[in-house]
Order: sequence, then C-alpha cells, then structure tokens
Amino acid sequence: MGYLLALDQGTTSSRSIIFDSELNLVASAQRPLPIHTPQAGWVEQDAEEMWAGQMATIQEVLSRTGLLASDIAAIGIANQRETTVVWHKKTGKPIAPALVWQDRRTQAWCEAQAAMADTVQQHTGLRLDPYFSASKLVWLLEHVPHAREWAKAGELLFGTVDTWLTWQLTRGQRHIIDVSNASRTMLMDIHSGTWSQDLCTAWDIPMGMLPEIVPSSGALAHTAAGLLAAEVPICAILGDQQAALFGHACEQAGMAKNTYGTGCFMLLNTGDTAVQSQQQLLSTVAWQQHGQPLQYALEGSVFMAGAIVQWLRDNLGLIQHSGDIEALAASVPDNGGVTLIPAFTGMGAPYWRADMRASLHGLSRGSSKAHIARAALEAIALQVADVLSAMQQDAPQALTELRVDGGAANNDLLMQFQADVLGVPVLRPKVTETTALGVAKLAAMHLGFIQAQDSAHLWQLEREFVPKMSASERDSHLQRWQRVMQAMLPL
Ligand code: G3P
Repeated sequence: MGYLLALDQGTTSSRSIIFDSELNLVASAQRPLPIHTPQAGWVEQDAEEMWAGQMATIQEVLSRTGLLASDIAAIGIANQRETTVVWHKKTGKPIAPALVWQDRRTQAWCEAQAAMADTVQQHTGLRLDPYFSASKLVWLLEHVPHAREWAKAGELLFGTVDTWLTWQLTRGQRHIIDVSNASRTMLMDIHSGTWSQDLCTAWDIPMGMLPEIVPSSGALAHTAAGLLAAEVPICAILGDQQAALFGHACEQAGMAKNTYGTGCFMLLNTGDTAVQSQQQLLSTVAWQQHGQPLQYALEGSVFMAGAIVQWLRDNLGLIQHSGDIEALAASVPDNGGVTLIPAFTGMGAPYWRADMRASLHGLSRGSSKAHIARAALEAIALQVADVLSAMQQDAPQALTELRVDGGAANNDLLMQFQADVLGVPVLRPKVTETTALGVAKLAAMHLGFIQAQDSAHLWQLEREFVPKMSASERDSHLQRWQRVMQAMLPL
C-alpha cells in the first residue's frame, strides 16, 4: 500500500503528516518554528532552522509509524505563503533571515510605488502591499551588502517556502515554485501563469534568480539520493490556504472556506475565471492540476483572528489558555455594548488600512472581562462577515454555505455567532487537518489513488451551525460594527 506524506510548513510550526492511500490520517509529527521581531513591524524566521525542523518531523513521523521511505508513494508540500527567502546558489546559505508574510518593513516602499497599483492589480490580481513577496525581495536586494551585484551575476536564488523546501529536498537539483505560491509573489501574471517581465524590470529584479513556475501537481521533483532511504517523488505543492480550499473539497466555482488561524483566510473558488475584485479583495490562483487549466479564487485575508485571543491571554492576562475564552464569553448573555476593533496590525481585507490601530468601545461601569471576551469573539466573526459581504458583491452567485477549519473553528459559540451574522450555514468537517489533507489529496489524485469524482466524499460533516438569530438582531450587530469601524478609520 502506498502512503502519502504531507509537509505542512506553517508560520508557527513545521509538521509532517502521513495518510494512507484512502486518505485516512495515520500519524503526524510537529516542531515549533520561532518567529523573530528585531524591530517594530519586522517579522523574520531562520530558513535553515525551518528546513532542519521540517526534516526532523519527516524522520520522526517515519520512525513513529515504522514506515520506510520506500513505503511513501508521494510527498505533498503545503506552506505558509509570501514568506521570502534568498540564498546563494553554490552554498545554499541564505543571505539573510526569511522575511515572513507578516513583515511590514516595506510599507514606505509600497506607498512610493502607489502609481503602479492599477498595473499591479491587473497583472497579479493583488494589492500593492507589503504582505506579498515582491517588496520583501526588493528590500533584501537593496539592504543586504552586495546582494544586487550577486543577483545580477546569477549567484543568488529567490524562493517562497515551497521553493526553499523543494530545493533542500532535492539537494539543489530543482529550483521551482508552484503556480499558487507564485501568484502570491506580486511578480506573476495570473492570467498567463508566467513571471511578469514588466514588473521585474520596473523593480530591477533579475529574472534569473526567480524559480521555474510549475503546476501544483505532477511529477514535480523527487528527493535527492541519500536524503532518505529511498528517492520519493514530490507530486503536489500548494500554498497552505489553497491546500485548505482543496481539502474542503471546494472544487466547484461558488464554494468557499474560511480558516481561523492567527488570522482568517477566506477563499472562494471562482473556477477558470480570475475575477477582478471591485471590493478590495485579492484574486489568486487556487491550483493547477497537471495538464489542466489554471483555477482561481477570490481571497479575503484578515490579519487578526486567533491572535486576538492570544492578546487577551498574553497581554491582558484575561484567560490562562486560549480555549478558556469560550466559557468566559458564554458566561454573559451578550457583549453588554462592548465592541473591539482588532486593528492591532492595521486592518486587512476589505479595508487595507495599515495606519489603523485597535480600540475598545462602549465600556461602562458594568463592563466585565466576559464582555470583552465576547466582543473579541464577535470581532473575529464580524471581520469575516465584512469579507463575505465584499465577496458577495464581486462573485456572480450567492454563497450558500461556508466550510471552516483552524483552531478557533472548534469554538462552538464563535461558529454559531458566525453563522448568525453571515446568514448562511457554517459547516465544520470531521477531519480538521484540512491543509494537509488537501495537498495529500492532490498528490493522491495525480497518482490515481483517488478519482476526481470521489473527492467530495472525502470531506465529511461533523457539525452544521444554522443561522438562528432574528434579522433585526443580526442587522443591529452589523450596524453597530460598521458605525464604530467607520468612526475609527483614520482620515
Ligand atoms: O498568507 C499567509 C498564510 O499562508 C499563513 O498561513 O497558517 O501558516 O499562518 P499560516
């Protein structure tokens, strides 16, 4: 029997998960990955530490299951997106720490490029924002001594996390990026799936340092001889949010998922159409299966979701464990008039206001920590409602359900409130390892273990949260949120 090994390299940890050929989860291993914040707005990781941790989880999961590398039919890679690594082609040494997607050091550079915003959106489907890789790559070329000179001499390589891991797994034989990850660099033309020469010229990025763009599935690479006990094919690569969309079996246009992690990432499948958002959302590549056309998604990225709960825990000491938030919030019948605007790192979609800051409103003598906890959970759901309402205006058909995953998706109070303010059912699956499942399924489909028509059955419902709130109560929540939000937007 052939097993599938999914590598899920996320912002906070590196994981390896083994599935059997019918996509039942067999075992997993995990290593935390530290984040470094040397200055306000700077967010870095050590790319070598990332690779070492990822490799350790591969060895651990194999030894835990007693499986040999030769039992693994294929590897699939799902990764944190946009994070930027530049390394020496000869030595494999990074020239600097990886600049993580959350890093905002290039805000001023992006503002200086404002005249290019429309061109960027037309070519890449993205907003001109520090979130994406391009400004981070320019920063490295401009600030690391000799970097541009080395890059022009063809001595440096650029990659996102999938590129870096594949380069390591193949011991430098493959310098590739899957098309879904490439669509997050702000350097790829999403219509053609090729690097944009215009943008590279405008930003003086030597195209020789860019990886080859490959489909999300196929015989993409294989591990180098001697790395593992056998050479294992790498048959699928996806950005982690696209992997979760695939794992939720949102394979038809009109289907959407939301992942509640540090932030929230809502993706709506738009089929083979790259919808040009009129509502400040991102247009992105969902995936490209071997020999098939590009598939697209609309995305709304919210920067603070689970991170709000962490802030209540670590900065205010309101709770001891993140999981305690549900009981605390449920100890009061409502928010008592308290609203939390969670703009701790500015607001993402659909506002995109890096200059906004967080605030608490409506406090009275009777306000308690339970009201703040409730306002925090509501803030997560109301941000998602903002994204969904923007999506509804961009998308041709109305959304009829939302599939969910991520840590906070286990919070029943939050999921019920989410369904209530969205006005559509929220569906939580039995297997919440949706990201790993998605990329393992893509590899399994390439190998013929799973047929396309069977994909939908691999997603099984655990619980459906049906909207229960009256229309007037729902409207009053949405109006209060909008009133405070608009009042807090800087001029
Ligand atoms: O765009 C960033 C996203 O890919 C990060 O996901 O789950 O690693 O925080 P995660």
